[in-house]
Amino acid sequence: MSDALYLRNGTLLQPASDQQMPGDLLVVHGLVRAMHKGESGALDEEARQCAAEIIDCTGLTVAPGLIDAHVHLREPGQTHKETIATGTSAAAAGGFTTVVAMPNTTPVTDSVKWLRFVQAPERCAAVRVLAMPAATVGSMGQELTDYEALQKAGAVGFTDDGKPVLEDNVMRAALVAAARLGLPISQHAEDTRLTAGASMNAGPVSFRLGLRGMTVEAESGIVERDIRLLEEIEQTERLRPHLHVQHVSTAKALHAIRDAKARGLHVTCEVSPHHIALTDEAIAGEAMQGSVRYDTRFKMNPPLRSAEDRDACIAALLDGTADIIATDHAPHAAWEKNVEFERAPNGIVGLETALGVALRVLQGKHGLSLGRTLALFTSNAAAVLGLRDLGAIATGAPADLVVFDPGAAYRYDVGTSVSRSRNTPFHGAPMLGRIDFTIAGGRVVFRR
Ligand code: NCD
Repeated sequence: MSDALYLRNGTLLQPASDQQMPGDLLVVHGLVRAMHKGESGALDEEARQCAAEIIDCTGLTVAPGLIDAHVHLREPGQTHKETIATGTSAAAAGGFTTVVAMPNTTPVTDSVKWLRFVQAPERCAAVRVLAMPAATVGSMGQELTDYEALQKAGAVGFTDDGKPVLEDNVMRAALVAAARLGLPISQHAEDTRLTAGASMNAGPVSFRLGLRGMTVEAESGIVERDIRLLEEIEQTERLRPHLHVQHVSTAKALHAIRDAKARGLHVTCEVSPHHIALTDEAIAGEAMQGSVRYDTRFKMNPPLRSAEDRDACIAALLDGTADIIATDHAPHAAWEKNVEFERAPNGIVGLETALGVALRVLQGKHGLSLGRTLALFTSNAAAVLGLRDLGAIATGAPADLVVFDPGAAYRYDVGTSVSRSRNTPFHGAPMLGRIDFTIAGGRVVFRR
């Protein structure tokens, strides 16, 4: 039976060039077989012969499928929180067709054996799962994992996410080894020597609530140290290492990244949707942000910061200092989160709300064009991860597509979630942009 799809009469969006045009797409055997720009109908004859389904995209935008460089899918070992099957279903519901799985699983994904486990067809992934295995054995920050073998098995970079690579000499060795393979080291920038026992941002709110806080310097200090290492390696090793800074949340770290980019160093970074939408005032309980006091649905690492830091994250996405939006989707079971604030695990789910939050804040409030907002999830993400045939709609490329109504405003209902966990701060929050279809590798993996 034919597996062909015909997407008719949509608005095709190319994020890299910020261009929109009416058009049709024919998808055959997982690839975009034909693209017609202009008035609908030119592909009708060819499509009628082979299309198993015609999707009427009238009034809808067709964009490249979203790419998330930072998700926790919890397999192996933490399947009470999420599985690769449920996490990738949530990804599909959020418009994502590629996700990068973090290695803080049980056991840590630090070997080819566990990388293969994550990639195995038995995991029943709904969308493409790429993996960023651990930078050090067991993510213990001491001994590098086997980068060459892991790259051959499909690794797109290395990270000890959840923990930083703290020791200077280990981080230097990691950057050198990854640079030799042309892959990034993705750093969780937190000086854990400064954050022990902290459960939120350090500032007036933590002081008021009597909670120990994480300073902005605990983040920026590691970013500044890593940038010094990049510079030193470029000067002494004739290599061009790529540092990717995860979930940047402070003006101070963004200032260091902006400056490093201006000096030509290969630094990229991501910002998470919650850091552009929420602030640490939520922990004190704020109806405007949808929280009650000590609400653990608002606890994650890095923590929600001050309004100034939130605004700096937005400004960095607007001016290109921040390359991409990544969700840091971090599911936890209700019984794990439903404890005292200081004892609750860090992390919130984010795959199903990322586009709605980003469009509301960046496009709705700050006037960023639709194409540039989508680029943060598509073409820019493909560039950061070195994924040459993703992030654009192109004939012959994988048919990874999201079909959505960019103007639809609604309130998010966590009851609609297909994730195994419900730890979102966005229940009831306003969203912009409703997803109607997600197509991954030519298959409809989500339909409203
Ligand atoms: C992450 C998780 O739950 O795996 N949580 C989070 O808040 N980002 C790990 C971590 O980075 O602390």
